[in-house]
Amino acid sequence: MKKVFALLALLALATLAWAQPTVDGTIGADEYANTAAHEDSGTTMAWTVDGDTLYFAMTMPSRGWAGVGFASEITDKKQGFDMYIVTMQDDAPVVLDMYQAATRNAPELDEDEGGSNSILESAAVHADDVWTVEFSRPLDTGEATDVAIVPGNEMIVTGASAVNMDLARRHERSNRGGAFVIEGFVF
Ligand code: HEM
Repeated sequence: MKKVFALLALLALATLAWAQPTVDGTIGADEYANTAAHEDSGTTMAWTVDGDTLYFAMTMPSRGWAGVGFASEITDKKQGFDMYIVTMQDDAPVVLDMYQAATRNAPELDEDEGGSNSILESAAVHADDVWTVEFSRPLDTGEATDVAIVPGNEMIVTGASAVNMDLARRHERSNRGGAFVIEGFVF
């Protein structure tokens, strides 16, 4: 009996070690439990759900800022989307937790929309016009500025890329490849 327990404990440890990615700006081949690709934009995504936490990673070709957004449904264009933007500020990469209150134009920082920064850890690298970004956040932050992510449920995932690091400068139109929407995405 003792042996069985020891084996179970070992297995549990092994699963735990595999389930927690390292948020360091590099995405290892087997680091994440799940992967998906959006071929038109050249975006790759990877994620692991570990307890109450989502570990999310993405590579996206972009000369300027890059963004990803989550929503449980589309109501009016991108209004209500829970957005994350990676860009350079003062020569350092930053990952921002944002909220899209308006149907068009830029999202705002969660902090300016009644929420808070829910990113637990983040790391990003911009090299050869490609962003590699990793961040973690609670699946359900309880804030109106964040969508609750329910693994197994169909969601909307959106992405956008820009030619400039300035967040006041918009992405190219979606019909010209600057932004995309994936429906039926399942974490
Ligand atoms: C996470 C970052 C962002 C994502 C994922 C994103 C995604 C999108 C998507 C999918 C659309 C098309 C919506 C529709 O018509 O159904 C859109 C529209 C638009 N976005 Fe963004 N966006 C982001 C950030 C920004 C920023 C920073 C700006 C401005 C500085 C901006 C300006 C606009 C404008 C003006 C439109 C309406 C015109 C159009 O459809 O191209 N967006 N965005």
